[in-house]
Amino acid sequence: MLQTDFLVIGSGIAGLTYALKVATACPDKKIIVMTKAAADETNTKYAQGGVAVVNDLENDSFEKHIEDTLIAGDGLCNKNIVEIVVKEGPDRVRELIEWGARFDKEKDGDYKLGKEGGHSEFRIIHHKDITGWEMERALLEAISKQKNIEVIKHCFVIDIITQHHFGYLITKASPDIECYGVYALNLETNRIEKIIAKCTLLATGGNGQVYRTTTNPSIATGDGVAMVYRAKGRIENMEFIQFHPTALYEAGMRGQAFLITEAVRGDGGILRNKNGEAFMERYDPRRDLAPRDIVARAIDSEMKKTGTEHVWLDCRHFTKEKFTEHFPNIYQKCLSIGIDITQHMIPVAPAAHYSCGGIKTDEWGRTTIHNLYACGECSSTGLHGANRLASNSLLEAMVFAHRCFLDVLDRINTISFNESIPDWNARGTTEPREMILITQSLKELQLVMSDYVGIVRNDVRLHRASKRLDLLWEETEQLYQDTSLSPQLLELRNLITVGYLIVKGAAFRKESRGLHFNTDYPDKSNMVQNIVL
Ligand code: FAD
Ligand code: SIN
Repeated sequence: MLQTDFLVIGSGIAGLTYALKVATACPDKKIIVMTKAAADETNTKYAQGGVAVVNDLENDSFEKHIEDTLIAGDGLCNKNIVEIVVKEGPDRVRELIEWGARFDKEKDGDYKLGKEGGHSEFRIIHHKDITGWEMERALLEAISKQKNIEVIKHCFVIDIITQHHFGYLITKASPDIECYGVYALNLETNRIEKIIAKCTLLATGGNGQVYRTTTNPSIATGDGVAMVYRAKGRIENMEFIQFHPTALYEAGMRGQAFLITEAVRGDGGILRNKNGEAFMERYDPRRDLAPRDIVARAIDSEMKKTGTEHVWLDCRHFTKEKFTEHFPNIYQKCLSIGIDITQHMIPVAPAAHYSCGGIKTDEWGRTTIHNLYACGECSSTGLHGANRLASNSLLEAMVFAHRCFLDVLDRINTISFNESIPDWNARGTTEPREMILITQSLKELQLVMSDYVGIVRNDVRLHRASKRLDLLWEETEQLYQDTSLSPQLLELRNLITVGYLIVKGAAFRKESRGLHFNTDYPDKSNMVQNIVL
């Protein structure tokens, strides 16, 4: 058993930013950061484009960034939250720079600014095309200097502990659900441990792995969302899954796909169909830089019309020098598979990228469960509405990590440990006989979600998906009850829960808005606000 004042689940930008702040403000208190993989294996590490933040007040303004975010969000953003994130963003970025993160600069010392879909101005600060790698590096380095932070790697959090674990009946209607810590499977000892905490932050990231192809690494399995749902906390807007328009297409792709950042289009890259036509002008006056939902749908439609598995991103008009100055990593990756971007177009296709919904929080990152906060991609703060504006998520994670920190600081001395928590009950379970029972179900889930709950949906597909998920759920629940736990089984179980929440949200929303497009309701006449499950 471990005991800590502050428990942080997740070592991406959200978890690490919060941990650093708490550790600095409370040098006498202990902080545990727990992660199921290596410390840097996070969505954060793979971020390319950068951080959208207003810093050139001559050409840009908070009002413009707010407006761009609201337009992308297609009527569902919480305006108060949008204003908070945009206006508090610059201070959070300054702190990150003080912790050691480096962003590219012009010769005169100003930050280089990139542009992505939906932005009316150049405002995206970046580190080449590996911004996330640089941010993660800086944060982990700063964390390693804090004596009161312990980073525990390869420890898989299974569930948050609430009154349910003392035998009380907890339902969605229970008014005062409390979090006392978590149960976690230590992947090095294969033992299930309990970690008791006064306050827990979930920063478990996204859920791209519920689809067949995704820009997300394998850790992105929606564990935090599934845990909160099981604990009867509130989850919202799960139907809004963002598909990035331009993942690098490779034949037979499944799992994590390499991203070609939208900043390439910001610098002049042009999407073309099989016939070489720059098709985006037929879909939106903003062409290649329309918001992501529009570009992804346009690509999907072109692929269906021309019967291809990808479209092309044309960068042949760039010189090698110009391209590699901003995108050295993409240049090398393409070259490694035989594509010289100055001579060949890049094959690209949409892939699941970002979850706009998640664990419902208030403006301080508080979830509907006491002493449990959530921030980063696993949360739903109200910033993104029906579609996230590009490069707003790293910013959101930093702003909300700060707000969780401010709130918990006020409260930590009023919370006491609950020390009578029962051990995990693993009696009656046997070793799993065949891993294929898990791996095959995962493949099935990913196929169902990609074929029926992808960029374009309709009621028949959603109904089918729901029936398939029921069966997968039943079979997986049986395995969970009968066999000893493995990370693969836990992730499958969480992904099925996430799939169910996406399907349920999508089925409730009888309109097409932002990232949710249902051909049976192609317009916005049946507006519903946030769908809370
Ligand atoms: P993550 O960084 O994903 O961290 C999640 C952490 O939780 C990991 O440490 C993981 O191991 C841990 N975890 C999860 N489940 C468990 C469990 N059960 N037990 C223990 N630990 C667990 N956004 C932008 O704003 N700008 C960009 O340029 C940009 N580019 C992107 C490019 C790519 C390829 C991808 C995939 C995303 C990009 N995004 C971008 C989105 C952004 O990177 C993510 O939304 C953000 O980094 C999420 O940070 P996070 O801290 O919430 O989660
Ligand atoms: C990208 O670089 O295109 C991704 C940016 C984002 O997801 O915000």
